[in-house]
Amino acid sequence: MTPELTEFFEFLRFPSISTDSRHKGDVRNCADFLMQKFTRMGLKPELHETPGHPIVVARNEKRDDRPTVLIYGHYDVQPVDPVEEWDTPPFEPTLVGDKIFCRGATDNKGQHFAHILGVEAALKEHGDLPVNVIFLLEGEEEIGSPNLAPFLEAHKEELACDVCAVSDTGMIAPGVPTMTYGLRGIACLEFTVHGPTLDLHSGVYGGAVPNPATIVARLVASLHDENGKILIPGFYDSVVDLEPWEREMWASLPDGDAATLAETGSKGLWGEGGYTALEQRWGRPTAEVNGIGGGYQGEGSKTVIPRSAMAKLSFRLVADQDPAEILRLASEHLQAQCPDSCRLEVELGHDGPAYVMDPHSDYGKAAQSALKKAFQSEPRLIREGGSIPIIQAIKDILGVDTLLLGLALPDCQIHAPNESFTVTNFEAGIALNRALLEELGKQ
Ligand code: BES
Ligand code: ZN
Repeated sequence: MTPELTEFFEFLRFPSISTDSRHKGDVRNCADFLMQKFTRMGLKPELHETPGHPIVVARNEKRDDRPTVLIYGHYDVQPVDPVEEWDTPPFEPTLVGDKIFCRGATDNKGQHFAHILGVEAALKEHGDLPVNVIFLLEGEEEIGSPNLAPFLEAHKEELACDVCAVSDTGMIAPGVPTMTYGLRGIACLEFTVHGPTLDLHSGVYGGAVPNPATIVARLVASLHDENGKILIPGFYDSVVDLEPWEREMWASLPDGDAATLAETGSKGLWGEGGYTALEQRWGRPTAEVNGIGGGYQGEGSKTVIPRSAMAKLSFRLVADQDPAEILRLASEHLQAQCPDSCRLEVELGHDGPAYVMDPHSDYGKAAQSALKKAFQSEPRLIREGGSIPIIQAIKDILGVDTLLLGLALPDCQIHAPNESFTVTNFEAGIALNRALLEELGKQ
């Protein structure tokens, strides 16, 4: 084990699950680890308290003769459930061949730790960097970054920069450098259908009163037509269509339909008609059920009409859909579809808009040169279906574009059991950071 890997493993061992209040202390300890790491490297770290988890900022000396690069990452991770499906303990990094198994290995600790180590190596070698660097690491990305946009607003001057760089997206295949120039946005809600005031005997009352679980199923079914088109009135009104050059470029990538089937293990594809799987995943909006429940879930049968049932929905958005507007339209649609015999309660969750930048800008080209240098191969340009809500806020508040240079591999299983990151990509990430800062330093 190299000293770099030993240190990375130490970072991975913090169970920094942001959504689970039982892990509040672990999230903080993880931030403290970063503070100590930055101090050892000779950067000046600051820990900023928020109403939620802390934000860590670290920078080198700001000089006016070089550009300033903001490197964003998140040290919080997703929950590990279902824990029984992990082959190794989720917070004990385990090296098997080239793969390091651990929650957060790829999303996102490994990817931003590689940037940290790249900066450390450059400082060791040259005593200085080609750019002013500001690391901005938050502990709430996986819960929608509720405190980061206000933090950017409040610290606009100290965070002023020329460009932002983030490694929190994917590569289309091992060894294929990939620049992401667009992300989908997100908007979440939860709804509950309330029926009778108490659970009922389904024989005594069944047939005469509404079953909230049935109504939830009907509401969920009302979201799509049989061709996968979303039926919420107004949902597509502000959607910006894919450009012909994008469809052409993505069509030239290895078969996305086949890759989608292989990666997911799904028996077949299902989605909006008229689009390939890559177009559906990267460039079209969706309505998804993330959770659904109500009634008896235990062993055997129980003849009951549950008094309520629920579902959690999330919408993935593309430019120029406004998340707040989509949540309003979705709530209205659900209310309109819910029969008068039940009461519908809708609770809105977190949201964030889609992001698209011009990959052919000067900084975009510099990023592609860096990718080429680090991977010795021609970079591909893609969009991604996942969301990093703060990226558009960085554009709106700090006025800069973000270069999304991802290191996640298609089989890395982020958010799922047995998440992994390869040692190869960890090392490539360090090389990428060095090449990137050199290229950006020339701008
Ligand atoms: N790193 C992901 C986003 C991502 C994954 C982008 C793969 C591109 C490819 C990020 O940590 C994430 O999971 N974001 C959440 C955001 C949400 C919780 C607000 C997402 O996309 O679900
Ligand atoms: Zn994530």
